[in-house]
Amino acid sequence: MSRISHHPVLGDLASRKSLSFEFDGKTYEAYENETIAAALLANGIRQLRVHEESGTPRGIYCNIGHCMECRVTVNGQANKRACLTLVEQDMIVEGGKQLPNLIKRMVEQQ
Ligand code: FES
Repeated sequence: MSRISHHPVLGDLASRKSLSFEFDGKTYEAYENETIAAALLANGIRQLRVHEESGTPRGIYCNIGHCMECRVTVNGQANKRACLTLVEQDMIVEGGKQLPNLIKRMVEQQ
């Protein structure tokens, strides 16, 4: 993946401040005013979490904040939408994991 280096509205990428953040224990580069989803996509990361029950991969779907498919944990706060949340320096982002069997059974009984 790569980024657009010059955009007629957003300007030059080179003029933007570079940031680093962590996703699932690895460090990635982003630029100021870039969403978590955009930064991860630019770094080749398409899977943001797995489905809580089935474990199937999930990633960006609508990219406008409607579907919640991109939800991640940001600095310990769960259910943040990666497509709407801007990257900050040293931000810790974690993808959603499959629920343990005990919790899955409790969900099924509801
Ligand atoms: S991709 Fe749909 S809410 Fe983020």
